[in-house]
This record gives sequence, C-alpha cells and structure tokens, in this order.
Amino acid sequence: MLFSSKNKIAGLDIGASSIKAAELNLSSKGAELKSFGVVPLQPEVIVDGAIMDAEVVKESIRQVFKEARISSKNVAISVSGHSVIVKKIVVPEMTPQDLEKSIETEAQQYIPFDIGDVNVDFQILERSQSAQPGEMEVLLVAVKKEKVNEHINLVREAGLNPVIIDVDAFAFENAFELNYEVEPGSVALIDIGASTMKINIMQDGVSTFVRDISVGGNQYTEALQKEFNVNYETAEKMKRNQLPDNISPDSVFSVINAVSEDIVVEVQRSFDFFRASAPDVNINKVVLGGGCSLIENIDKFFEEKLGIPVEKINPFRNIKVNQKKFDMEYMESIAPRASVVVGLGLRRVGDKWSK
Ligand SMILES: Nc1ncnc2c1ncn2[C@@H]1O[C@H](COP(=O)(O)OP(=O)(O)OP(=O)(O)O)[C@@H](O)[C@H]1O
Ligand SMILES: [Mg+2]
Repeated sequence: MLFSSKNKIAGLDIGASSIKAAELNLSSKGAELKSFGVVPLQPEVIVDGAIMDAEVVKESIRQVFKEARISSKNVAISVSGHSVIVKKIVVPEMTPQDLEKSIETEAQQYIPFDIGDVNVDFQILERSQSAQPGEMEVLLVAVKKEKVNEHINLVREAGLNPVIIDVDAFAFENAFELNYEVEPGSVALIDIGASTMKINIMQDGVSTFVRDISVGGNQYTEALQKEFNVNYETAEKMKRNQLPDNISPDSVFSVINAVSEDIVVEVQRSFDFFRASAPDVNINKVVLGGGCSLIENIDKFFEEKLGIPVEKINPFRNIKVNQKKFDMEYMESIAPRASVVVGLGLRRVGDKWSK
C-alpha cells in the first residue's frame, strides 16, 4: 500500500523550552494539518542546547505524541546550535555524484571540527557569486555526529523512528517556502527560540547564509528575574504582559528593550558578515518567527533598528487547519513558534536534505 502509516512522517521539534509535534497530510489538494501538540519543558531540562535530563525529554516526546494522537512512528527531527555549521564554499566544478565522493575532503579545511566527527551534506548553488570559471559554489552543512546520534538515540528510546535529520534553520525555511511566494532579492528568516536564534539569509529563494547564535527568550527571562527578583514562572508571565501588581509596565518594558537591543546587535553583526561576502546584495525583508517574535512590538523594534521591513511568519498560511478539530485561537497564538515543526512535518524521504 502506497500510503500506509509506515510512509507517514511526523515532525518532531525538540526545542529548548518545549517539544512540539505535527503531522500533516500532503495531497494534490495541498497540505492539511492532521495533528499538533506542544509539551513545555522546564528550563533545566535542556541548557544551552545540551540535553541535561534525557528521561524527561523522552517522556515529553511520548506525551506529545499521545496527546496529539499522532499515529506515525516515523519522524523528521532537527538539530541547531554550536554543533551545526553551514558555510558557502567554492569547489572545482564537478557532478553531484563526484562531489558526494569528495565532499569530506573539500569540507575539511572549512570545518573547525575533525571531519570524522561530523556528518556532511551539501547543496550545489546554481547562481554563484564568487566562483570563477571551472568552479562552483556549494552550501556545505556539517553537523557533529555526537549531537545527531544523541538525538537519534533519544528519539528511538522514546519509541519513534527518526528517518530524517534536518537543521532547524532549513526546517523553518521549508515552512516559509510552502506559505510565501519567492520574491526576487534577499530575505532573512530569523527564528528566535528560547535558547538559540537561527538566521537564514535566502537569495532568490536559495539559502546562502546560515548562522545559529546562542541568544533567545531565556535572556529576557533571566534579565527580568534578576532585575525584579522574581522566579522563572513570574518572569515568563511578565514577558507575556502579565505583571505582578507592584511592578510598572515601563520598568518591564525597559528591561525587555535592553535584551532586544542585544539581540538586534547580533542580527546586525550577522548581516554585516553576510554583506562582506555579498556587497551588492540588499536584504529586502526580515521574516521573524519563534517564541520571541511574540514579544510585544518586537517586529517594530527590529524594523526600526535594522531599517528593513519585518514580517511575522505564519506557517499555517497555506495549510488547511480544520476549525472543528483545532482551537483556532490557540493555533493563532502559537503559529510563529510552530514553523520548525511544520517544516519538519512537511518533509518526506527523498527530499533535498534527507538522507
Ligand atoms: N507570547 C509570548 N510572548 C513573549 N515570549 C514568548 C511568548 N510565547 C513564548 N515566548 C518565549 O519564546 C520562547 C519559546 O519559543 P520557541 O518555542 O520558539 O522556542 P524553542 O523552540 O523551545 O527553543 P529553541 O528554538 O531555542 O530550541 C521562550 O523563551 C518563551 O518564553
Ligand atoms: Mg525552536
């Protein structure tokens, strides 16, 4: 049977602050959301991308699959952070088959880890900026095996079968591509989660610069905890405009703005780095997602500081979401945080980044 449950793949996003899962039906009529669930994680479970409490993560994976009633055992998962390196490199012109054989040798000089310690993947870039005749540009993706294996084992121990290992930034891009038209020029996709910001600059619909930076929602929570001497839960509520009686909105606003300022400086730094290698390219638009995009007016703040229009992503824009089955208010409130899991849930074996 072609469409047995064996062929189905669910997206599973193991984020620093939550486990998210999504199952989508893909047909000639388009994509439809079948199941969706989120289980929050306490901040000490995954710290700076490191899984500190594997048992809790496994239990939360089982819980989200049970709660969302996801039948598929096959999953697409993703990794992010320090263990992921994406670089544009120039190699001698050759066929994809030959590059497949020589990519590790080519990659060696660009990766700060031992080549034996990473899984390497690539995509040949059709439109090249710095390649001379006889050369071609390639987007190189290297992920530490240690990290990949840790995730694979954990997911297997939770009773699932990881069939696609992706990178957060590319899963986010996959969700973006389904929902938005490719516009000529450059777009920066920025996913700001709890612990990591993923920046992916796309030129004419092709990813050319990817960087993960260790900043995110936890910085806001920590700053609020320190400034107002409140616990984690209270600080998390304060980010969502639920303030304790004795604390003024203005004082909270200034702490939040100071963190947003630090984050925007990191974005600017990456943009400068990108522009250094592509001086003629303008970044026309920023598309913001992840939990931090829900901070009040952060889009305006980014727009003002970067001088570029900022739009919030809606990964369900072109996906049918049955109003009888899902709480639409909840789905709307969580949408920008769901981009990675939707991008993963859209993956099928044989796709560009699946092996
Ligand atoms: N409505 C909201 N307003 C402000 N901040 C929010 C809101 N909802 C979530 N957040 C913050 O967003 C972060 C979680 O976002 P997200 O789910 O995208 O992260 P994650 O995927 O778990 O983490 P990461 O991608 O870094 O691994 C948390 O820091 C949380 O406090
Ligand atoms: Mg995330």
